[in-house]
Amino acid sequence: MKTYRFLLAGLGNIGRNLLEILHTKQKILRDEYSVNLIPTVLADSSGVLSESHQNEIDLMAVINAKKAKRGVATLPHGNANISVLEALSHNPIDVVLDATPVNLETGGVGLELTRLALEKGVHVVTANKGPLALCYQELAAMSDFDDASKPGLRFSGAVGGAMPTINVGRSDLAAAHINRVEAVLNGTTQVILEMMASGSSYDEAIQEAIHLGIAETDPTLDVEGWDAANKLVIVTNAVLRQKATLNDVSVTGINTLRADEVRAVRMLGERMSLLATAEWMGDHYKLSVAPVPLADSHPFARLAGDEMAIRYETDIYGTQTLITTEHGPIPSAAAMLRDFLDIHRNSHH
Ligand SMILES: NC(=O)c1ccc[n+]([C@@H]2O[C@H](COP(=O)([O-])OP(=O)(O)OC[C@H]3O[C@@H](n4cnc5c(N)ncnc54)[C@H](OP(=O)(O)O)[C@@H]3O)[C@@H](O)[C@H]2O)c1
Repeated sequence: MKTYRFLLAGLGNIGRNLLEILHTKQKILRDEYSVNLIPTVLADSSGVLSESHQNEIDLMAVINAKKAKRGVATLPHGNANISVLEALSHNPIDVVLDATPVNLETGGVGLELTRLALEKGVHVVTANKGPLALCYQELAAMSDFDDASKPGLRFSGAVGGAMPTINVGRSDLAAAHINRVEAVLNGTTQVILEMMASGSSYDEAIQEAIHLGIAETDPTLDVEGWDAANKLVIVTNAVLRQKATLNDVSVTGINTLRADEVRAVRMLGERMSLLATAEWMGDHYKLSVAPVPLADSHPFARLAGDEMAIRYETDIYGTQTLITTEHGPIPSAAAMLRDFLDIHRNSHH
């Protein structure tokens, strides 16, 4: 049995669901994987809750508190005066699980936490695309991507939820040359485009998507294409092994489209989608995110709003197409468990 003491930062949609998964899968993790996961630090925007000899963390109590919209600092032994970075420095942590919000300007607390953990030799699993989109090469060089003796870094939940985008690209297409990648990596824009094709104006579609809880109150990152571009940057670095940042991606959002254009495409039997593309140009990949009309025969033409997809065109494995259907955040939270188990398997060997 191997024991891992974990720090989980972020107890929102992803973090709270991850805690529930860890709670319900405890027996399988012990019996089938010989893994014992001990919650040692849990952090949200209110502060931290740390385990000690006198205080074992009661996962169900934390899950219930978060469901009731309470911060962990309000729980017995919670602390509003310690940052998650200080908690990482002062506690014996084996793995950091990052489910904090995306910050594309500074990388936010997720970037600081990931850097500090890797510096300390602590494994990191993250669902947060921000640090990877901004600093992929720096973080990869600090991790087992560079040298197997360094701490593990995994982020499969950051690109397409539970769709094994990164894992298939890195492991299952071994030694392939990938000629082209096409992907639909943003569900919000799919839903908005579908509403526009069915008669709504751009503004009406956005308001409806916000009302349904599908879009953020500020959906700029989605509709202007930056969310998809971030994910493409991560795929380019991690799978295509080309150094890339957001500056290398030509980005056009769906906010440039008029509803009558989207409907005209539909009248032709095609479907407008925000497509992320990496195309091999002979010596580098050309990266773009743009609304593209897809012919009815295209495998992405019938994706529903809760589906995302990626296609790898390769030299030796043919074309591999992945489609994921996900309702809510549980599959993305589960991707963090999958990533942790991958680190466990590797460090075990
Ligand atoms: N939702 C999805 O379906 C999905 C899918 C794939 C990837 N992701 C990524 O996963 C991450 C989390 O998403 P989410 O939907 O769970 O977001 P969320 O519901 O907004 O939760 C964010 C959590 O981070 C906490 N937090 C904020 N600042 C913090 C700080 N300085 N230190 C510690 N915790 C802090 C918040 O605290 P409070 O609880 O106190 O507000 C909250 O618990 C994001 O990076 C997102 O892009 C999400």
